[in-house]
Amino acid sequence: MTTLGNSNLQEYKESLPHQQILDESDKIKLKILFSLLALLNLLFPISNVSRFEKSLKFYLGLIDHDNFNMHQKPKRLLYLGITSKPWYECCDYHALKFISDTLVKGAKDIEDEWSSNYLKKHNLVSRCESSDVHPDLKEDDWGEFVLWKEGKFTKAGRSLFPRTVKIVSKLESFVIPFGQVVFLVLKPGVALPPHHDSSNIDLTCQLGLIIPENCAIRVGNETRSWTEGQTLFFDHSFEHEAWNKSQKERVVLLLDLYHPELTKVEKFLLWFFGKAFVGY
Ligand SMILES: [Fe+2]
Repeated sequence: MTTLGNSNLQEYKESLPHQQILDESDKIKLKILFSLLALLNLLFPISNVSRFEKSLKFYLGLIDHDNFNMHQKPKRLLYLGITSKPWYECCDYHALKFISDTLVKGAKDIEDEWSSNYLKKHNLVSRCESSDVHPDLKEDDWGEFVLWKEGKFTKAGRSLFPRTVKIVSKLESFVIPFGQVVFLVLKPGVALPPHHDSSNIDLTCQLGLIIPENCAIRVGNETRSWTEGQTLFFDHSFEHEAWNKSQKERVVLLLDLYHPELTKVEKFLLWFFGKAFVGY
């Protein structure tokens, strides 16, 4: 690794909120935890518990990352040992193909329901409030309607978007429990500045619903545009930005999905880890 790489890694590690000096009591608890993980790894090697163990050690600042990509800097957790690239194609994994096929098939229904539902306007909340990376945006520049969060559909989502809920319910097992399914509305003329999101344990899926011209998203070095009725998949731990240079609103349906390479055991550990240490 180059000196530049090392300095970037150090800078990144210092930006993480949970790398801290551990006291003796923490060290004892961690020793027990790591012993349990080593045992689990021995008993169930195909569960890839060692990836979780390594990632947790990096998260706590106990080890370095020997293959650091300076373009991938999640704000909370960098999960090690899984495929990492800015963009994913639906043919990369069976899960992504199934998710894409389901959403593409239901896209017309979802778009119809969005466009005909006048009540949605009163249920949009500012996406800016849940993000600290867009300080210059006005409250209504970037709005969301939450359909699914904390492992279940919202009451408003069920009552206002029953057809969309029916379609998305086929995909619930792929959605990360502490993630969301939301309609995202980007106002005309608004640009979301470059940023990284929380982790690479989840991939973002966006289904294009209302896509005017001159709307696009850059992830890493590649810029793509949405197509109405089609999906995009990307890793939001890479630097990304999006813009709407048209005169109309851009609307997509966003789903936070588990990275398809994570095993059931890893998902359980990450759920527990998220609850216990990260507070998602
Ligand atoms: Fe983002």
